[in-house]
Amino acid sequence: MSYKVRDLSLAEKGKIQIEWASKHMPVLNMISKEFSEEKPLKEVRIAAVLHVTKETAVLVKTLMNGGAEVWLAASNPMSTQDDVAAALVMEGVHVYAWRGETVEEYFDAIKTIAKVEPHIVIDDGGDFHAYLHSSALEIAEKVYGGTEETTTGVIRLRVMEKQGILRYPVIAVNNALTKFMFDNRYGTGQSALDGILRATNILLAGKTVVVAGYGWVGRGIAWRARGMGARVIVTEVDPIRALEAVMDGFEVMKMDRACEIGDVFITATGNINVITRRHFEKMKDGAVLANAGHFDVEVSVKELEAIAVSKRDVRNCVTEYALPDGRKLYLLGRGRLVNLVCAEGHSSEVMDMSFANQALAAKFIVKNRYSLQKKVYDVPKEVDTHVAILKLKSMNIEIDSLSEEQRKYLESWI
Ligand code: NAD
Ligand code: ADE
Repeated sequence: MSYKVRDLSLAEKGKIQIEWASKHMPVLNMISKEFSEEKPLKEVRIAAVLHVTKETAVLVKTLMNGGAEVWLAASNPMSTQDDVAAALVMEGVHVYAWRGETVEEYFDAIKTIAKVEPHIVIDDGGDFHAYLHSSALEIAEKVYGGTEETTTGVIRLRVMEKQGILRYPVIAVNNALTKFMFDNRYGTGQSALDGILRATNILLAGKTVVVAGYGWVGRGIAWRARGMGARVIVTEVDPIRALEAVMDGFEVMKMDRACEIGDVFITATGNINVITRRHFEKMKDGAVLANAGHFDVEVSVKELEAIAVSKRDVRNCVTEYALPDGRKLYLLGRGRLVNLVCAEGHSSEVMDMSFANQALAAKFIVKNRYSLQKKVYDVPKEVDTHVAILKLKSMNIEIDSLSEEQRKYLESWI
């Protein structure tokens, strides 16, 4: 068994966390049961680059119940739950992940799991797909197919598809309705605020919270922050989304203005340099900076480091930057995903749907590996709908169905 984790003695603690997550992931449990009987992933090698959390552990165990052998590396150097990583090793998973990896160690782990020549690659953010397509083409050629968990990863894959360099089909799990409408919105909406509160313990009521980006993640954060009594300002570059934010009742303005009035800043754009030096220079003393987008490039940490006269860690997950004029700014989780670095990521209930799509996408790839082209595919509609049906069932919620008369009415034009 090959692995590299922080401390195997944490395994018992991790096992209890995985049991806790599993209790709140009924859909994945139903799929796991089916997988145990049907073994759709028999003799399939899966290499996954995901946040190594208790919810990911439930996915990995589902894939193993389906017959797969699984290698796992982290999709962020600071998001691994070390107890979970240890517990997974004890379950027979080849884990290469620990919290606090250097960037070099992070890429080494990805390279290591690529070497097993996986049939399926699961990624969150696109670093694994990018590595296979830039430095390990001979391995990429043998991959049946891949999946991608998040918006930023799908954007990168679409560019690869457009450039005609994609070497295997990819299922854009992020684009399933049962993924982005719930995980990105309600998952991040809650867990990003959880990360900010665990790190700072500030009162959100009465604060001015600036949310950059009003996509699925930004919407979730803005609505939840308002729900806790904050005055919420949204910044956007897309006129339609900006208009939506206005009509949802938020104040919308340029970051150049918002930076002067915000108490807490949360980026959720998937873009680069959204908050930079010219904004830091105008911020209030004590402003808190957090990022919920995939990469640590939204708040320019480089520029913050450059203008600060000193920095120190003042609490777990909080770095204080002192500026030349005496003001202090507080960066959370070093500008990396605040929900995963300063808290535990999304709740299990929402990852239940995201990872149900991952498991079913893996099964779909194996079944259709000879007919799929080297393209980015959405999750098939019937899979997406199936996940919603199972989730409703697990919540004991019944819905109406169309009568024959209603179906015909909807299909007629006269
Ligand atoms: P999205 O495309 O729905 O939304 C992004 C929004 O940001 C768009 O409306 C876009 O117009 C806006 N934007 C782009 N540049 C901007 C700028 N300079 N200033 C203001 N707004 C700008 O994407 P999404 O699904 O909301 O995802 C956003 C990011 O969050 C991605 O990086 C995604 O991978 C990541 N994500 C993180 C988590 C998490 O657990 N933290 C979960 C899901 C997605
Ligand atoms: N992304 C966001 N939250 C997550 C979680 N709890 N587990 C894995 N990936 C995540």
